[in-house]
Amino acid sequence: MNQTGLQSLLSDLPLGGVRYFATLGSTNEFAKRWADQSAPALSLVVADEQTAGRGRLQRRWFTPRGAALAFSLILIPRIGRGQDGILPYRYTALGALATCEALNTLLPPGNPAQIKWPNDVIVSRRKLAGVLAEAGWQGEQLDTVILGIGINVAPSAVPPDEVLHYPATCVEAEAGAPVERWELLHAVLERLLFWNARLDTPEFLEAWNDRLALRDEWVQVTFDDGSPLEGQVLGLSEDGCLRLRDRQGKTHELTGGELNVRPVGRS
Ligand code: BTN
Repeated sequence: MNQTGLQSLLSDLPLGGVRYFATLGSTNEFAKRWADQSAPALSLVVADEQTAGRGRLQRRWFTPRGAALAFSLILIPRIGRGQDGILPYRYTALGALATCEALNTLLPPGNPAQIKWPNDVIVSRRKLAGVLAEAGWQGEQLDTVILGIGINVAPSAVPPDEVLHYPATCVEAEAGAPVERWELLHAVLERLLFWNARLDTPEFLEAWNDRLALRDEWVQVTFDDGSPLEGQVLGLSEDGCLRLRDRQGKTHELTGGELNVRPVGRS
């Protein structure tokens, strides 16, 4: 792939600018700088290899050459904080939902990609893609969202076991066939643009809820301050929070934290 090839591949999509890099530190970092310099809305940054790819919770994201998809889309929503700060979660879900839908055209129907709330895309309890949505605020206005997505396409994109926080897999292993990376990129972007125009609709929430992984299972959530909560996954609330029922029967609605599967021996 190269800059001209990528532009031509994506010419049927209503994107802003498109930038391709054979090697880049992080597409999210580049996109942030570009957004600060007035990038048009829906501009896209793609890298074949990232040398400083970033995941959630200050983790590194592994993107070796020729094996993965790593890209960031610049969204300029310019909307008020209004809905109590939940909007950035919707963007994370947008990335995960679009990725699931594109992947599910390649995966066996009995083994679909699902969303491990809030930002992982998993198949058979293994992660094959992650989303990092970074919000830029201007006072009370959500000005920019950098929506970064990383997908493990070929086996060499799967990080070594010693750096994994969650079991991982790749699209080719789950599809049982070689996958054309750039066609997959086109498919994900097509779904991203579709759902981005419908973010505040009941259909978006329904599609997100339908793809939610670990429903009815007992899981442990670890909050950013390290405190844990154990509960059974009930689904999403109307505003996209994760609903969990704890052992005392109390329902919690979560907007943050990291969802970890924990074998608690109770269903
Ligand atoms: C996670 O699962 O922790 C999120 C991973 C997000 C990785 C993508 S790859 C493209 C974009 N650029 C980055 O530096 N990170 C995101």
